[in-house]
Amino acid sequence: MENKYTEEFQKLAVPTNATERQQYFIDKLRVEQFGLPPKYSLQVSERELREAKPSVHKTACITTFGCQMNARDSEKLTGILEDIGYEIVEDENADFVIYNTCTVRENANQRVYGRLGVLNGYKKKNPEMLIALCGCMMQEQEVVDKLKQSYRFVDLIFGTHNLYKFAELIDSRFSGGHMIIDIWKDTDMIVEDLPVERKYSFKSGVNIMFGCNNFCSYCIVPYVRGRERSRKPLDIVHEIERLVADGVVEVMLLGQNVNSYGKNLEEPMSFAELLQEIEKIEGLERIRFMTSHPKDLSDELIEVMAHSKKICMHFHLPLQSGSSRILKLMNRRYDKERYLSLVEKLRVSVPNISLTTDIIVGFPGETEEDFLETMDVVRRVRYDSAFTFIYSKRTGTPAAAMEDQVPEDVVKDRFDRLLALVQGISRERTARFTGETLPVLVEEVNDHDASLMTGRLSTNLLVHFPGDASLIGKIVNVKLEECKGFYFLGSMAEE
Ligand code: SAH
Ligand code: SF4
Ligand code: F3S
Repeated sequence: MENKYTEEFQKLAVPTNATERQQYFIDKLRVEQFGLPPKYSLQVSERELREAKPSVHKTACITTFGCQMNARDSEKLTGILEDIGYEIVEDENADFVIYNTCTVRENANQRVYGRLGVLNGYKKKNPEMLIALCGCMMQEQEVVDKLKQSYRFVDLIFGTHNLYKFAELIDSRFSGGHMIIDIWKDTDMIVEDLPVERKYSFKSGVNIMFGCNNFCSYCIVPYVRGRERSRKPLDIVHEIERLVADGVVEVMLLGQNVNSYGKNLEEPMSFAELLQEIEKIEGLERIRFMTSHPKDLSDELIEVMAHSKKICMHFHLPLQSGSSRILKLMNRRYDKERYLSLVEKLRVSVPNISLTTDIIVGFPGETEEDFLETMDVVRRVRYDSAFTFIYSKRTGTPAAAMEDQVPEDVVKDRFDRLLALVQGISRERTARFTGETLPVLVEEVNDHDASLMTGRLSTNLLVHFPGDASLIGKIVNVKLEECKGFYFLGSMAEE
């Protein structure tokens, strides 16, 4: 495709600076694929950029698996695609389909292979269609080998470390015309200032660190996300300031272990100190974070939470197991007593806090006694809610080579007992708010009943109440009238 910028654009040298280089490739695709004026590399007026219409209409659909890290990564991919000129759609029958994958448990992988078959069907009808796979699963050699062998219709495969290169990779696919595979083993780079398109106007995830150094013996994340690296505090604060200026009132600070934030910075800074800096940002109303590893949870952090006006009344503190023996095998570096004492401190300093957790059932060698220790911790802590997982064997992790993998029927039985306990306690915990009037950040129109709005308490609990879409993004007081187990029905309080 030619447009009035083609000739001038072709004279430009490809920049070496990582951010400018990607901006160059975004522009290249804008000019060559969509007939749009370049945004970054040449002087083009705001007005012309605003009024320019793409000369072709192409749709793109991103499907995200896994955790909030991946969700945030998908917002970055979306930002790049929109910048290039794609229209983002929900339907996978699109011109460009991207799967941002997760591999934390085996069933996540199976789902991807299953759905690829469907995509192949779409591609047969639309041979121009592009399919890209990225994210954690692509960091595993066996996966890439299998795709190369049996899924030749995939156009582009990249990993977690070079996601920022998305525009450049798309360009390589267009120029090369064959399957492009670009996977890095690890990186020490953090590339700032590329486009991001948020899913919600009023809340946003913010990466504060990448990677993980903990090597819990069951977990594949350190192998697919690389070594821990923290972003500079100023980069984080500036990003949040920009988000707030753009209408964001709540941020979720993201890292695999936020409690070890800042340890590898040139000028080290603790997570508690970072939180205090973020608290100062005017216009920001709510601060959340995820995930906290119990081994690095400091008294300083608990102290900061106790005095904060913005940090939410919610703490996600993954337990994994209540048995000190299993915790040791898991390489979690805390025991049952230390975990319970952290919970005690949190409860004393932040009395009404909501505690949530992750628990794995059926880790290799887990006996009935070990499992009862987990049940004991659940009874003592009384979590507001808990994610319960059946242990999934991940090739390459130390636990995969351990003997005594627990038989499936035993695991299933334990899982059901744990779930029943967790849900019973969760119902009782939720009910403690009945009759109270509390601030709710309104998020969306209720999925099932358009006369209701859905929002969240500071504790993260969902609340549905009559209202209209004009409330989205606002914090309103809602009287919590009827506890429905895991959520409330309420009504807006009079001003
Ligand atoms: N960094 C976070 C967890 C990220 S993975 C933390 O340490 O808390 C999210 C959850 O998935 C973990 O807390 C764990 O409960 C679960 N998980 C991780 N690996 C798993 C595996 N191999 N089998 C089952 N569950 C697993
Ligand atoms: Fe996995 Fe442990 Fe790292 Fe969490 S802290 S991502 S469970 S290795
Ligand atoms: Fe999955 Fe990767 Fe997150 S493996 S849980 S998407 S870090």
